[in-house]
Amino acid sequence: QRLAVGIDIGGTNTVFGLVDKNGSILIEDSIFTKRYQLFDVFIDELCNRINGLTNKLNCELIGIGVGAPNANYFDQCIQNAPNLPWKGKFELGKLLNQKINVPVFVTNDANASAMAEMMFGAAVGMKNFMVLTLGTGLGSGIVVNGELVYGHTGFAGEMGHMIVRPEGRHCGCGRLGCLETYVSATGIKRTVSKLFAKYCCVSDLRNIPFNNLSARRLAAAAYAGDQIALEAFEFTGKILGIALANVVALNNPEAIFLAGGLSRAGDLVLKPTQYHMEENLLSVFQGKTQLKISSVKGNSGVMGAAALVWKVVE
Ligand code: BGC
Ligand code: NA
Ligand code: ZN
Repeated sequence: QRLAVGIDIGGTNTVFGLVDKNGSILIEDSIFTKRYQLFDVFIDELCNRINGLTNKLNCELIGIGVGAPNANYFDQCIQNAPNLPWKGKFELGKLLNQKINVPVFVTNDANASAMAEMMFGAAVGMKNFMVLTLGTGLGSGIVVNGELVYGHTGFAGEMGHMIVRPEGRHCGCGRLGCLETYVSATGIKRTVSKLFAKYCCVSDLRNIPFNNLSARRLAAAAYAGDQIALEAFEFTGKILGIALANVVALNNPEAIFLAGGLSRAGDLVLKPTQYHMEENLLSVFQGKTQLKISSVKGNSGVMGAAALVWKVVE
């Protein structure tokens, strides 16, 4: 059987699997990204594990697709990733190709998710849409006229680093006020901490250490009526809704899909975001942009990365 490898490098975990042409992940594995302080050691372990998977299925590899934060489709490198352990520029594609001798395709992690939405999700047939991944950071994949937008140097779609508040929160990129410092699984935790200081209301969340707060816990608290959690989702949706009103003015998409950990909070993020987006849209755009949770079942990063291979290699 001919299969492609899909790899989704994340700030916390790196997930990878063998994927067929229909996007089905036949087998998958993961490693803890943060454990690897050295990029070379990370790549070695990743390749060992991938070889382990291919041996198990006894298949023919047609290529490797990788989605990673701050990755560049043109030069196949990752560069200055705020949420990865390695600082600087690394030849991701080249190294993988040296270790496993098949064609390698590298793209941004959110671009991979957009690719999965386009091939296997609710964006099938759509020509203009965006996918936002709300995880450790905020990523975006932008599709215009049926094609992913890469831009002049291959970095288009760094929506997480649009500055939404002058002199705002410190971002891992070194600047202040980036969208992802508010709208991401990490951003909403920072909002909760700020709200603790601002109000003296009762909240069970106060007893949870910052590192153990998760989007899932915040969602559970909000559904149980916790005031701090509810306000945190409202604030997150307001910042995101206004940012989306701005990007809609730029691209006029048919739909915007939310993916990643924080999107699993469902209506808690969707409702306030939808409200504030509509409130702030130019009238010609009002009621014309669908806002949805991603419909892709399974790891869209892995599926989309593998789809990059299938698109080119037959
Ligand atoms: C990075 C993006 C990435 C996103 C999600 C951001 O901090 O700059 O490249 O897509 O995080 O991982
Ligand atoms: Na992107
Ligand atoms: Zn930033």
